[in-house]
Amino acid sequence: MTALVAVGAQWGDEGKGKLVDSLALSAELVVRFQGGNNAGHTLIVDGVKTVLHLVPSGILQPNTRNLIGPGVVVDPRVLVHELEEVRASGALKDPSRVRVSGRAHVIVDWHVSLDKARDEARAEAAIGTTGRGIGPCYEDKVARRGIRMADLLAPETLRAALERSAKEKNFELTQVHGWPPIDVDAVFEELVALGKQLEPYVDHTGHILDRALRDGKNVLFEGAQGTFLDIDHGTYPFVTSSNCVAGAVCAGAGVGPTNIDRVLGITKAYTTRVGGGPFPTEDEGPGGKWLGEKGQEFGATTGRRRRCGWLDMVALREAAIVNGFTSLAVNKLDILSGLDEIPVARAWKIDGKLTEDFPMTLEELARAEPVYEIMPGWTEDLTGMRQYEELPDNARRYLEQIQAWVDVPVDVVSIGPGRDQTIYRKDLFAK
Ligand code: GDP
Ligand code: IMO
Ligand code: MG
Repeated sequence: MTALVAVGAQWGDEGKGKLVDSLALSAELVVRFQGGNNAGHTLIVDGVKTVLHLVPSGILQPNTRNLIGPGVVVDPRVLVHELEEVRASGALKDPSRVRVSGRAHVIVDWHVSLDKARDEARAEAAIGTTGRGIGPCYEDKVARRGIRMADLLAPETLRAALERSAKEKNFELTQVHGWPPIDVDAVFEELVALGKQLEPYVDHTGHILDRALRDGKNVLFEGAQGTFLDIDHGTYPFVTSSNCVAGAVCAGAGVGPTNIDRVLGITKAYTTRVGGGPFPTEDEGPGGKWLGEKGQEFGATTGRRRRCGWLDMVALREAAIVNGFTSLAVNKLDILSGLDEIPVARAWKIDGKLTEDFPMTLEELARAEPVYEIMPGWTEDLTGMRQYEELPDNARRYLEQIQAWVDVPVDVVSIGPGRDQTIYRKDLFAK
């Protein structure tokens, strides 16, 4: 049995979905433990593209079970739609392959409206949220007034919970933001109908997970977002509203830290970010434009153009610390082919002072200037390569330098979006 956590080491969109799909071949269970449909995880299998927002990325491997844990926030409309899509594609013949925790909190219409209205009201200081209601839903959870998946199956409890919230939500929507109010009757009816559709999937996911671990199965935990979007360890307030670091698995899925064996940190070979907030190695010139075009850097959830820049050792080392990476995966290495020189930030200068440590405050971070080391590039197309040894010398040098600087082995290299375009230097589930 091996329990492996796979998390983003940057600002999300590192290619987690692609790797989780590939790794899921060896896992009996794949578990989402935080975030919601702000995530957009892209899988390409036999040339067919699937984008998943809530259903774990193990769904396209026919023998995995897929759990949505209590730490996830679930928009039931999106879940029903996504289940229909995977069923229609033939990937979900056995519905017992998906289970959602009865304790997972539910995103209601007013969470979505408030998310959008509040981010609009922030104007210049907008976070650039995905507008999916994630923040307001987590707020209600922490304020102990949320609605959970199990409540959708208990209409009286649901009605009372909606009534309790509606007055306050509609007050803010109409009086503060000038938005139309939400009709509680309509919300209630829709949620009851969605509850009926989702009832077969609602379960105590913690018990399923516990049984799998006791039976010695391989379990893969799929992170959403990334380290620097984490509510505590990220670039607050330009973050999401959940913990995305590896430690969040314990609370979000319901598993003890002593059960976790390995942590895979996933990074791109360069860096991207969607939405507002500091990004020291962002390249707003031709370099960043080139990366965005070659890497097709558009958000899988909102379609927004991703900001692009270079790999950053200060950030990656911080990610290794807060997640406890045992392995690194470097994705999209193929995109760097054709560059004569590849800049990598080795350190930052903040107010003229050189530092290798991630600063404590957003203000310091906003003033950070990267200090680049220039690595030699390569011209070869990597997308057909399947062995580490096939990679050009300078590509291997790039990976080995990252490994040395972060002090975590690069055990996985991705050289294309397809499931098979993955080079494993080690079996991450082997004991
Ligand atoms: P996630 O949110 O971390 O799952 O990542 P996204 O799916 O949002 O974004 C990653 C994008 O890069 C997707 O379009 C993937 O198909 C693509 N991708 C992943 N790995 C590779 C790779 O190694 N090479 C190339 N060219 N594309 C990749
Ligand atoms: P995956 O799992 C990239 C960003 C948003 C915004 C901030 C807060 O695909 O990597 P939210 O809607 O969560 O309140 O938005 O976080 N964000 C992501 N960026 N990938 C994601 O998920 C993201 N999920 C949220 O753009 O800046
Ligand atoms: Mg994504």
